Amino acid sequence: MMNDFMEKENQVAETVIEGVAEDLKRTQGGCIMDGTIEPCTLVIIGASGDLTARKLVPSLFNLHRNKGLPDPFLIVGCGRTKMGDEAFRESMKDALAQNARIDQETWGAFAEALFYRPIQYDDPSSYVDLAEYLRSLDREYGTKGNRIFYLAIPPGLYETTARMLGRAGLSEEREGWSRIVVEKPFGRDLKTAIALDSVLDEHFEEHQIFRIDHYLAKETVQNILMLRFANAIFEPLWNRQYIDHVSIMASETLGVERRAGYYEKTGVLRDMFQNHMMQLLALTAMEPPSLFEADRVRDEKAKLYRSLRPFPTESLQEYLVLGQYGSGRIGGKAVPAYREEQNVSPDSLTPTFAMMKIFMDNWRWQGVPFYLSSGKRLAEKRTEILIQFKEIPHSMFREVLGEDIRANRLTLGIYPEEKITLTFQTKNPGAKVCLRSVTMDFHYHQGYEGPALDAYEKVLLDVMMGDHMLFWRQDGVELCWSFLTPILEECETCGNREQMLLTYEAGSRGPEAVENLRHGIPTF
Ligand code: BG6
Repeated sequence: MMNDFMEKENQVAETVIEGVAEDLKRTQGGCIMDGTIEPCTLVIIGASGDLTARKLVPSLFNLHRNKGLPDPFLIVGCGRTKMGDEAFRESMKDALAQNARIDQETWGAFAEALFYRPIQYDDPSSYVDLAEYLRSLDREYGTKGNRIFYLAIPPGLYETTARMLGRAGLSEEREGWSRIVVEKPFGRDLKTAIALDSVLDEHFEEHQIFRIDHYLAKETVQNILMLRFANAIFEPLWNRQYIDHVSIMASETLGVERRAGYYEKTGVLRDMFQNHMMQLLALTAMEPPSLFEADRVRDEKAKLYRSLRPFPTESLQEYLVLGQYGSGRIGGKAVPAYREEQNVSPDSLTPTFAMMKIFMDNWRWQGVPFYLSSGKRLAEKRTEILIQFKEIPHSMFREVLGEDIRANRLTLGIYPEEKITLTFQTKNPGAKVCLRSVTMDFHYHQGYEGPALDAYEKVLLDVMMGDHMLFWRQDGVELCWSFLTPILEECETCGNREQMLLTYEAGSRGPEAVENLRHGIPTF
C-alpha cells in the first residue's frame, strides 16, 4: 500500500519535472528575442574610439555568430581618422582577437558587412556625403532606408552631431525609420540636459531617441520587476510596514583608469547616481504599472522620481557622504591616490565615492530610508540591492534567546553573484533551543541552459526593434537632474567643500563617516 502510494507520488513528481523541462525547452530558445528585426544599417559615429572596439563591435559580432542580426544588416563606422574599409575591418578584427579566438569563416561573413567613412563632426558636407553613401548602400544591399545612428563620441559632440544629422535629412523617416542612440551623460545638470534635449528634439522625435543606460540591460536588473510583479508573495510586504530600509550599492575596485579627462568634470554623482543608481532605485521602489509596456513602466518611474524628497541643502551632511580615494592596496597591489592618477589635478575636489540617504514622499515609502552608495577603488566589485525587513514585533523566545533575533533580508545580487537570497531564522538541530540565520538562494542561471545576451547585445537588439523599455525617457532624465542639481550646486560651491570630501584608503570600504549615515547597515 505504502509502496503504491510512493510510486504514484513519484509518477506525479516525474510528470511535474517533465512538464517543467518542457516549459523550459519551449521558452529558452524564444527568450532571446521577440519578433523579427527589419533589415537596417547601424552607423557608428566615433568608430575609431574605445567604445566601438571594446563594446559595440564585440557585441555585434556575438549577435552575428548567434544568428541574432537581421539580414541584411550593415555597419558603417564613421570617425575623424582617415582610413578605408579594409583598415577598419583589420582594426576591428584586432580588437576582437584580444578577447576571443575568431573563427575565420564567421569573421569573413561579418567583415563583409563592415564599412568605414571618414567624417568631420562639424562639417555639414561630411553628412551630406554620408547620406548619399547610405542611400547607395540601401540600393545595393536592400537595407530599406532603416538607420540607427549610434553616438559613440564624447558628450560634448552630441549636439553638433545631432544637428548635422538632422540638417542632412538623416533624421527623416521617409523610406524607412531613423533612430539615434545617445550614451550618458545626458547633460551635466538640469539646464544642460534640457539644452541637449532641445537640440535632439529639433531634429528627432522622442520615439526616435534611445538614451542608453547599460545597467537596465543587465538581466538581473530586468529581473527586479519580474520578481516584484510576477510573484504574489513579495508585493504585500514591499512597503513601509514591513521594510526597515533599503540599501542599493555599486562598489568598484577600478580607479579612474585613463578616463580622468571625463571623470574630473563628472565625479561619482554624475557618473553613477544620475543614471544607474536612479534606475535601480526606481525599479526597486516604483508602483506596479498596469502593463509591461515601455511608456507605462516609464510613467511609473517618473512618478517615483517626482516623489523624491529634496535634500535640505543647509544640512546636507545628514544625507550625503562624499569621499575621494587615497592610496592603498587592491588585490595585494599598491595603487596611487586619485590625486596622483594621470591627468588628475593634484588638488582635485572630485568625489569618487558617495552615499546618500534618500526618502520618498509617498504612501508606500514614507519614513523608509533608501541608502544609495557607489564608489571607485573599494574593497570589492559588488552591485547589490538589500531589502532589510523589520524586526519581529514580539519575541516569544526572549527568555531563552534574549532579544537578538535577526530580521529577514532579501538580497538581489547583480554582481558578482547573479542571485536572489532570502535570509531567515531557523532552529539548530538538537535538544537546546538555538537559532541560526540561514539563506535560501536562487542563482539566476540555475535551471536555464539557453543562450543569454550581454548588456550591449540586448540594447543593440532593442534599438533595432524600436523597443524603448530599457531606455531613459526625457522626463525621467529631467526629474533626476531636478533632484541632483541643487545637491551638486551646493557641494561644488559651498565654503566647506574640502571638508566635505573625506579621503578613504583604496581597497577599504569607503569613508568611515558612512556609518553615521547608515547606523548599522551592512557595509560594502
Ligand atoms: C559606467 C561608469 O557607466 O559604469 C563607470 O561611467 C563605471 O565609471 C561603470 O565604472 C560601472 O559599470 P559596471 O557594469 O561595471 O557596474
